Amino acid sequence: MLEIRPLHPLFAAEVIGLDLSRPLPQEVADQVRAAFQRYSVLVFRDQDVTDDQQVAFSRLFGDLEMTRAGAADAGGFLIRLSNMGPNGEIVPPGDKQVLNNKANQQWHADSSFKTVPAKALLLSARIIPSAGGNTEYISMRAVHHALDEATKARIDGLITIHDFDHGRRKIDPNLVSAEERAAVPPVRQAMVLDHGTYGKSLYLGAHCARVEGWSEEASRELIDSLMAFATQERFIYSHPWRAHGMVLWHNRAVPHRATPFANRAERRLMVRTTIAGDGPTIAAA
Ligand code: OGA
Ligand code: MN
Repeated sequence: MLEIRPLHPLFAAEVIGLDLSRPLPQEVADQVRAAFQRYSVLVFRDQDVTDDQQVAFSRLFGDLEMTRAGAADAGGFLIRLSNMGPNGEIVPPGDKQVLNNKANQQWHADSSFKTVPAKALLLSARIIPSAGGNTEYISMRAVHHALDEATKARIDGLITIHDFDHGRRKIDPNLVSAEERAAVPPVRQAMVLDHGTYGKSLYLGAHCARVEGWSEEASRELIDSLMAFATQERFIYSHPWRAHGMVLWHNRAVPHRATPFANRAERRLMVRTTIAGDGPTIAAA
């Protein structure tokens, strides 16, 4: 009854035959969890879920992270990503929300600036623009597998420093306030993660500032060349959203980014739940 249809030669699959507004039987939940490990990105179409139903489905994959104190939905489990203000009006250019949305157009792994980054994310499309506004994913397992042996040996065991401000300041040097910076100091992450049966992956993205113990220049050179290799089209799945679509992704095996759309003329609203990581990446290297 559960059908898994691959969407890309390397990863990403559509799961067909589920109604996520109801609790799933244990064996079906197990099949979905196994598919998640195998494909890293799972797409569910035609799921007109409520916030509570999204939360309930997300819990099948682990404990959920609460939203930060001070965030719009503080103390809840849902984050709303949109280009709209409180009354549904499109926010003006230069607004912090617009800049943050722009930052999401850089390849990134969510919360890699935290010692224990999220394990998985579930995004549901509530309002989508008529064109653009895709979410794209890179199979970093396929990327690691395709690296030459010398590079694999060179990067194995490297520690990187991830800093929330690093990627944000490329958009606007004042996007992250001094207060926010103090709240999220730079953290150490493993550059290569080991997923056991499914091999290793590169853990890189916009928050990755440098390689620990390396010069600024040597760090940039390595990180930029790895990202140039990783962003080849053959490793990317670009997801075109349809209303009521949902995507679950493995936040430690696939970085993601949003693509542009006509954000001054059209609305986009996505609702996200965050499944907490089990431990630091350094323990999974
Ligand atoms: C996110 C994110 C991209 C998008 O939800 O973490 O980066 O396409 N979203 O909205
Ligand atoms: Mn993100």
